[in-house]
Amino acid sequence: MAFRTIFEPFRIHSVEPVRMTTEQERGTSVREAGFNLFALRSEAVLVDLLTDSGTGAMSRDQWAGIQRGDESYAGSPSWFRFLESVQELFPFTNVIPTHQGRAAEKILFTAVAGPGKAVPNNTHFDTTRANVEFTGAEAVDLVIAEGRDPSNRHPFKGNMDVDRLDDLLRTRGPETVPVVFVTVTNNSGGGQPVSLQNLREVRAVCDRHGTPLFLDACRFAENAWFIREREPGQQDREVADIVREMASLADGMTMSAKKDALANIGGWLAMNDDDLAARCRNLLILTEGFPTYGGLAGRDLEAIAQGLHEVVQHDYLRYRIRSTAYLGEALARAGVPVVQPIGGHAVYLDARSLLPHVPPLRYPGQALAVALYEAGGIRGCEIGTVMFGRRPDGSEEPAAMDLVRLAIPRRTYTQSHIDYVIEVCTDVAARARDLPGYRIVEEPPALRHFTARFEPVG
Ligand SMILES: Cc1ncc(COP(=O)(O)O)c(C=O)c1O
Repeated sequence: MAFRTIFEPFRIHSVEPVRMTTEQERGTSVREAGFNLFALRSEAVLVDLLTDSGTGAMSRDQWAGIQRGDESYAGSPSWFRFLESVQELFPFTNVIPTHQGRAAEKILFTAVAGPGKAVPNNTHFDTTRANVEFTGAEAVDLVIAEGRDPSNRHPFKGNMDVDRLDDLLRTRGPETVPVVFVTVTNNSGGGQPVSLQNLREVRAVCDRHGTPLFLDACRFAENAWFIREREPGQQDREVADIVREMASLADGMTMSAKKDALANIGGWLAMNDDDLAARCRNLLILTEGFPTYGGLAGRDLEAIAQGLHEVVQHDYLRYRIRSTAYLGEALARAGVPVVQPIGGHAVYLDARSLLPHVPPLRYPGQALAVALYEAGGIRGCEIGTVMFGRRPDGSEEPAAMDLVRLAIPRRTYTQSHIDYVIEVCTDVAARARDLPGYRIVEEPPALRHFTARFEPVG
């Protein structure tokens, strides 16, 4: 393109009002929410960057698919359209629809994990870790060292450390490691991609030990776009083709359709192992539903099927990755520390370095997230010690990083919304040293970040 302005490859077709709020109102709302942004009413938020999960805008053709949805209990045409779209990109022989990604995780880990076992991943996402640990197994994160350094500009910071993976498989033995996972892109590690080369190396290690490899594929299209842009020899390929190659290196996948299937709900579990698939389907029927709809309505299956066609379009992915980088680059220019390089679906603010006076066990990420909300009505998400600090034995430790994730819903906000976010973040960063830390006053036994209540300290 001859021009630099990011061109949003869509026009707005229907609008949702955003209710304006004052700083004073937001102060009251966040106090009532126990300083937990998950407990806010979303009408009290101006720019909602809590998550990119299920929050995107669907296209005209997806809404048309919703109308076409066939709600037959078994064997609906909507199921076959869904199956065909999934298998066009991920040609696994068994596809098991679920209501969202964590349901796929729950079913898989119930079938293969358990006490004494270990599941390696580049970095487990919170629900993935929780579902592994719920079975009594250990969730082991093996991302490369560069992936834990917020300022390192390695182009594939989501890569798995294959030597450590090999060590783990050798010392623990294949019988205690039922599956190896690679998360594309690596959400908890900054939305960073995994290279094809790394996937090939992980595959080779898995082959040596006879261990299956699964992808946590939520952001497969964004990952494939990064491969096309950054990996030598990939520049002329279709993204769909790169995705098929990623799939060909794995034995199965879990998926949240709320991300790169551009839908508001849905997910699936897929694999080539027929025996394992039969065990998973039995579990599916207990909690999700019949295997041709899982936890979904026929209309949801249609929205996903259409979303999978749209998400691999190059115009869409160019806009998507470029507009996330626009936010991250502007913040970096303003002196706000952000994880580099900028990830695919989100910009991650390095709260630990912005708030050096707040120790990790006083939750610098939470402190920054609350301040962004109070100042400008921006809702981000702490990804740090609140989310990952509580160990299964009840002890508490600082997480590897204390970040605030500003996740960008797909096709939802305009460039002026993002310019506003840049202004608010810059303002809060300038007075970061005055922000208080927090203590937790109430927390549940698992996934505490969703419902814990906090109070400021000092
Ligand atoms: C990498 C990753 N895995 C799994 C999940 C879980 O998906 P869901 O929210 O659909 O249960 C998420 C959701 O944010 C994710 O980012």
